[in-house]
Formats: sequence, structure tokens, C-alpha cells
Amino acid sequence: MAEARPRCGEVVGWGMSVPERVLSNDDLAAMVDTSDQWIRSRTGISTRRVAGAGETTATLATQAARNALEVADADPRDVDLILVATSTPDHPMPSTACLVQNALGAIHAGAVDLNAGCSGFVYGLVMGHQAIASGEHDLVLVIGADTMSRVVDWGDRSTCVLFGDGAGAVLLRPSHGDGGVLGTILGADGAGAELLRIPAGGSALPASGETVAKRQHFLGMDGRQVYRFATRVLPESIRQVAAKSGLALDEIDWVIPHQANMRIIETAAKRCKMPTERFYLNLERFGNTSAASVPIALCEALEQGCIQDGDNVLLVGFGAGLTWAAAALRWAPEAEEHRGAWLHRWLRNLLYSWARARTRLRHLYNTTFVRLIRWTQRSE
Ligand code: UT7
Repeated sequence: MAEARPRCGEVVGWGMSVPERVLSNDDLAAMVDTSDQWIRSRTGISTRRVAGAGETTATLATQAARNALEVADADPRDVDLILVATSTPDHPMPSTACLVQNALGAIHAGAVDLNAGCSGFVYGLVMGHQAIASGEHDLVLVIGADTMSRVVDWGDRSTCVLFGDGAGAVLLRPSHGDGGVLGTILGADGAGAELLRIPAGGSALPASGETVAKRQHFLGMDGRQVYRFATRVLPESIRQVAAKSGLALDEIDWVIPHQANMRIIETAAKRCKMPTERFYLNLERFGNTSAASVPIALCEALEQGCIQDGDNVLLVGFGAGLTWAAAALRWAPEAEEHRGAWLHRWLRNLLYSWARARTRLRHLYNTTFVRLIRWTQRSE
């Protein structure tokens, strides 16, 4: 008798959200000493999206999550767990995941942020899959979201040309067929912590007038060292996760890599002896969106019809920490009939409006209550 396949997570919904504002290389050349030619030839990036007023990591993450729920035709109240991978949360406290949970009306979900730099989404996917494999959870939202424009130093040409803002999300469910997660790897090397970091604003160097004056709240990076790390760890991760998943490299149909630099991806392809055409790329339009880059690329690859039923898809990230993570998936979604999808959509929108109204009411109640207390204290 064939052995039953262990329980695993499968992607059943996906979505993305990017700000409207486009910043081109020429726009950047008007701000710092750089050129379209330098940025394109050294990175492969032409444009990136930049958040405007009112747009934050949480608002982008919420929209990406709503789009993922829409694709799966799922009810936010059925979500068990929300994982938001980000290194640019809306606030140090509370977590961005709680803001997303509230905005979705996901009233039965646990919610938590995780920070693994640009590897964060793949870390989250691995942990979401494990939460499902354990039997503890059935519906897990994994989101990668970052607004790097809020932490890059717009006067530092060596970093500001690289990053962009955005969010991507997937909804995971237990797989009942051939699809789902085949194998995963996670890695970290804290000895490289200083290569990519925001020095101030944490417990080591709390915010002060001095830290602001020294521009220590901005991201700093040793680009060459990170480049060396990335070109080593990316092909290694691809090989390791493929082997762990029982796949030969020529059985991998798509690699969805972290979109940091075209040259890093080309080097990894060469080192794995895989054609670059099997690496999905969109960094030309979005730049490096940190934790959002892998889910945005996955979402676009699906929407453009690149990924077909039965394909083996490998997701791989690397970044601050230093960290790296990879997951191999078989893409074999079961055909589901979404009866009454319009009614579910209407219900979801009602839930979102109610979540917004509830937040406003609570805010109004709190502020009125505080004013009332102050007023009674004054009149005593
Ligand atoms: O997602 C997190 C992971 N981050 C990464 O993966 C980033 C990894 N690193 C890289 O992608 C590359 O190192 C960079 C794209 C950041 C830099 O490319 P590079 O080919 O390694 O350039 P470099 O740092 O060696 O600098 C070469 C020259 C320097 O000038 P000198 O010293 O040779 O005169 C830089 O000052 O290019 C200069 N430069 C620039 N020139 C024009 C650095 N940035 C710029 C710029 N425009 N924006």
C-alpha cells in the first residue's frame, strides 16, 4: 500500500499591492550623483514604487492579503494565523500583523511579525507550512511587506537606487492532492549582522537627537560584501532545497528568487548550470522590495500564466541577518468550484467596512473617555 503523504501547506490564494508612485532612474539622477546607465548595468533596475502619504507597510500588506483571500474565495474569519514578514513595521510596537488582522476582520486569527530581512517571506512560508503540517492550523496568511523608502537615506547613492516598496501575500491550506511544499531550508549567519543594518532606533542605540543628526536611523550596507554573500548562498540554497525535496535541478521549472540584483541572479543561474530564463524576474520594474520581493514575483508569475499545473517551483530569499531561506513547492491546485463567489465578495467587503468602522468607533470612544476623565479631574 502506498504510504500516505505527510500533511503539508499548499498555496491556494495569492495577491500583491504596490504604491502608485513610480520613481525612475532619471528621477534618482536628479537627486543624487548617479545615472540611469549605472543603475541599469549594475543592478538591472529601471523603476521602483514609492509609498505616498497614508501608505504604510500595514496598508500595503492588508491590500495584498485581501487580494489573496479574493483569489481563494476565503472568509477572513476562517484564517487561523497571520504572519507578516517585515523589517519596516508601521511601529516598533504593536506588530504590523495585528494591524492587518484588524483591517481584515480576521477575528479568529493569531497574528505576529517576523523579521528576517529580505528572506522574511520565505521564512514565513516555511513556518506557515509547518503550522499546517503540525495539524495545529488550517488556514495561514503569509505576507511579505516593506516600505524601504522610509528607511533608506535618500542622499546615499549606494543604497537609495536599489530599493522599492510593496507587499505580497499567500494563503496556505492543507494540501489534499499532489501539490504543496516539498522541502524547505532556513539559514542564518549573525556574524554578518553589521553588513546590512539600521543602527539606531532599537535598544542598543535608542532614538535621540544625536542619532538623528548622525543619520543612524537609515539603512547602511556594505554592498560588496553582501554581493559576495548573495552569490554564494543563492546557488547553495537552490541546490540544497532541491536535494532535500528529491528534485534534480533540471526538474525545477521556475525559480522565484529574491529580486536584489540581476547580476546576482545571473551568477546563481550559471553556478547551478540552469538557464536564466527559468528564474522569474521583475526587479527591473520594482527594484528590491525586501521581504515583499519573492511573493510579488510569485504573484506576477502566476498571473502571467508562467507557472503551470504540475510545475516544481522554488522560492529563495537572502538578506539582512544575514539570513537565507528556500522552499520547493509542487504547483498542483485542486480545481475548486467557488459557488456564490459574488456573495462571498460582498460579505468580505462588509467585514472590511465593519472592521474600519469598529476601529474608528473604538478610537472615538477612547479619546472621548480620556477627555471626560480629564474634564472631571479639572473640575474637582
Ligand atoms: O536585499 C538585500 C541584499 N542586498 C543586496 O543584494 C545588494 C548586494 N550588492 C550589490 O548589489 C552591489 O554591490 C551594488 C549594486 C550595491 C553595488 O554594485 P558594485 O558593482 O558592487 O559597485 P561598488 O560598490 O563596487 O562601487 C563601484 C563604484 C564606486 O565608485 P569608485 O569607488 O569605484 O569610484 C561607487 O562609489 O560605483 C560607485 N557607485 C555609484 N555610482 C553611480 C555606487 N553607487 C553608485 C550609484 N551611481 N548609485
